[in-house]
Amino acid sequence: MAETYQLLDGKKAAEALREEIAHATVGVKEKLGRAPHLAAVLVGEDGASKTYVGSKVKACAKVGFRSTLVKKPADITEAELLDVVAQLNADPEVDGFIVQLPLPKHINEQKITLAIDPKKDVDGFHPMNLGRMVIGLPGYLPATPNGIVEMLRFYGIATSGKHCVVVGRSTIVGSPMSILMSRNADPGNCTVTLAHSRTVDLPSITRQADILIVAIGKPGFVTADMVKEGAVVVDVGIHRVADKSRSKGYRIVGDVDFASVAPKCTAITPVPGGVGPMTVASLLLNTLKAAR
Ligand code: GUN
Repeated sequence: MAETYQLLDGKKAAEALREEIAHATVGVKEKLGRAPHLAAVLVGEDGASKTYVGSKVKACAKVGFRSTLVKKPADITEAELLDVVAQLNADPEVDGFIVQLPLPKHINEQKITLAIDPKKDVDGFHPMNLGRMVIGLPGYLPATPNGIVEMLRFYGIATSGKHCVVVGRSTIVGSPMSILMSRNADPGNCTVTLAHSRTVDLPSITRQADILIVAIGKPGFVTADMVKEGAVVVDVGIHRVADKSRSKGYRIVGDVDFASVAPKCTAITPVPGGVGPMTVASLLLNTLKAAR
């Protein structure tokens, strides 16, 4: 059994990325005559969404970007939200913007995503950017998958020829992740298996993974018996579970049962402090690209 594992510290990797971004921002500011500007649209009062958007806004200040938080009530109509998107599309002072998901049920998320100008789509969710990624053209890469790629790069994790198993096929994480890991690039060049809710005998698949990326949205779902000795494990999940021993009454856990899985790994991301900070750093990277 691997006695010690490397902790893939996302805060540290994100800080290094932010330093590079802050450095590049100086030149961009001189050229533009203003700071790069990210806007974030937050609809409703979802606690997790508020936290995520808050950390995105804070990160902007750290690298010298301007940020604007556009807050709208949960009962905003789809037409009104489309109008907000149209205004941000047209605003020459906004380089890029995001609409935080999930949206209230009465709003069609796809319709909103499609309305965002691909040139300002720093989340990389628009089909134009997803399509460009698939055929290897420059564009905005989706923030979480690209953050994971940057994390693997930062820690020098070898990927070429490795078997990468991605668990979860969401359009914002699992599907694009599988594409980035299989493309002819470094990090990349993996043999990829994309597992999902219809996968038969999932543990037999995950046990084959040299690199296991879990984005299934179930707390503690991946247990030690599902992981190969020596694997690299990346946990995208983030959940609040009740814990009376904590002052807040909850603790944050991922999709991976860290305590049992970590001793089997050569490297593993913690939750919190793993993928989350890299997602935010990757969004900053896209915003810098947009401003350029
Ligand atoms: N909800 C969960 N992750 C994300 C993200 O990366 N971007 C947006 N806009 N919403 C999210």
